[in-house]
Amino acid sequence: MNHSVPMLTLADGQQMPQEGFGLYKVHGQATMNTAVKTAYQAGYRLFDTAQLYKNEKEVGIALQQLAVPRDHFFVTTKVAEVNQGYQRTIDSVKDSLHKLQLNYVNLLLIHWPTAKYFFDTWRALEDLKQAGLTRSIGVSNYQMIHLQYLATQAHEMPVLNQIERHPLLSQAPMIKFDADHQIITQAWSPLGRGKILDNPVLTAIGQAHHKSSAQVILRWHLQSGVAFIPKSVHRDRIKQNLAIYDFSLSDQEMDQINGLNEYHRFGKEPALVYEYNKKW
Ligand code: A2P
Repeated sequence: MNHSVPMLTLADGQQMPQEGFGLYKVHGQATMNTAVKTAYQAGYRLFDTAQLYKNEKEVGIALQQLAVPRDHFFVTTKVAEVNQGYQRTIDSVKDSLHKLQLNYVNLLLIHWPTAKYFFDTWRALEDLKQAGLTRSIGVSNYQMIHLQYLATQAHEMPVLNQIERHPLLSQAPMIKFDADHQIITQAWSPLGRGKILDNPVLTAIGQAHHKSSAQVILRWHLQSGVAFIPKSVHRDRIKQNLAIYDFSLSDQEMDQINGLNEYHRFGKEPALVYEYNKKW
């Protein structure tokens, strides 16, 4: 494992790199191969995909081409809303593993909470873990109410909750709730989809450290104690996003970034996805 990225210990004992590589919207075999190879060579060891991304097959081929032992990388995938329900979840995860050319994933998440198959889907994840098809199980886009509801029937609780988090949506109460319940928070769209990089507070802090706004944001995630999965298809940015372990933000700078929170989501509101039973 790469030495600069800290390892976090999940509640079930599995180790996970705090920084990973996001694969949302990475499409085309050639682009995927280059992105995964560049990321691996730069030092990323966690690769985050999902059934919804429709790129698991491409990810599988790119991972094969790395030609490194299985325990040198960590793979996350997520069950799509359309595949929720006990048997559909089991079947879809087997299909994901087939596409990924893996015997197991390191982490399997429910992509969004939905009302219809809320407990059945989680029961399937518990059974998939028992069967060794995933090392850890968790959720994504769950709010406090969803986790509390899940706790009423779960045999084991998620070890990770992947949520939208960036400087415009700092999620302090959710992160505290997760931490209080031994759940690691992992930030998706950690860079705010790249749409907030010209924010003057971020650029000023970046100038003071000779770093880009993206690096300042990722360092803020790191020092907040959350895990995060930036994505890029550009070699220089893939490397740049890992060059955050040679500087630190002061408490005052952390406060400044925390102060940018506007409760602004680029993605969907989880409570609505729950009620509609689908993301769109
Ligand atoms: P690209 O893939 O063209 O580099 P998020 O992870 O928050 O969803 O943001 C991802 C977006 O941010 C992508 O559009 C990506 O574009 C862009 N991005 C990733 N890293 C950087 C960086 N270091 N500087 C500028 N833009 C970046």
